[in-house]
Amino acid sequence: MRNPIISIENIYYRYPEASTAYTLENISIELYPGEMIAILGPNGSGKSTLARLLNGLLIPTKGKVIVDGLVTSDEKSIWEIRRKVGMVFQNPDNQLVAALVQEELAFGLENIGLPPVEMKKRINEISERMELSHLLDFPPHRLSGGQKQRVAIASVLALEPEVLVLDEPTSMLDPGGRKRVLWELHRLRQMNKTLLLVTHDMSEAVMADRIIVMEKGKLALEGDPKECFANIELLANIGLELPPAAELAKRIKQKGLVVPNVPLGVKDWVEYLCLQ
Ligand SMILES: Nc1ncnc2c1ncn2[C@@H]1O[C@H](COP(=O)(O)OP(=O)(O)OP(=O)(O)O)[C@@H](O)[C@H]1O
Ligand SMILES: [Mg+2]
Repeated sequence: MRNPIISIENIYYRYPEASTAYTLENISIELYPGEMIAILGPNGSGKSTLARLLNGLLIPTKGKVIVDGLVTSDEKSIWEIRRKVGMVFQNPDNQLVAALVQEELAFGLENIGLPPVEMKKRINEISERMELSHLLDFPPHRLSGGQKQRVAIASVLALEPEVLVLDEPTSMLDPGGRKRVLWELHRLRQMNKTLLLVTHDMSEAVMADRIIVMEKGKLALEGDPKECFANIELLANIGLELPPAAELAKRIKQKGLVVPNVPLGVKDWVEYLCLQ
């Protein structure tokens, strides 16, 4: 049996400054090596809070998060956990700390003690892949939102962590930037890295092996994309959209026509139409 790389064991989380209610309640999830999980849910449902629990930035009020055998509440393990679990924040301003983009990319690599020659090589490679080479001498605060987001992603990718938690990493990107990030995710999957992607974009969610839907701090639904998007009514009640191909099927079905079962993309539609 495979062992999970991350186990979230029956956690509850309450922000210290919040009053009584739990922001997260009774959540258990296991992430397996090489798996890609997408987290969906409306604003305020607790997705970013859950993400922050995975690398020990927040510690559960009740329950445990275990990363490769290390419990996040154990202070001695925190640096090892952070090295295993890279985190791209929803807002890049919360992540960027250095005076120049190149220093930002070097920062984490220095922390893990990479030799200068290897560091330079990694910075050059990642800046080319994320189209940041022309911005290396810029201060991050002078960049656009999308450029900052690309720097934040690049600085975490450069560290090559085993697990990557990405909180809405494409929300500020233009189509070209988004394509580059999705390509990087594809590359990471081929390298058997574990990915947890928080997203509002259903076409990104259908790329995942498994989808988790959050609602009001609770786990509302879990399954592979086909299972998940078959719950049309539940998703509509939560206020979530369907992927475009599934939405099309739903509308055609409403007109009384026979449609493919939960199509997730053009490929499903083509297969269905070719068999008719
Ligand atoms: N630092 C904090 N202190 C107190 N409450 C917080 C804090 N950060 C978030 N919350 C509350 O926790 C709840 C969940 O917030 P969270 O940011 O995890 O939601 P989300 O699903 O990521 O939303 P979004 O889609 O807008 O990013 C919200 O009600 C929010 O107000
Ligand atoms: Mg969020």
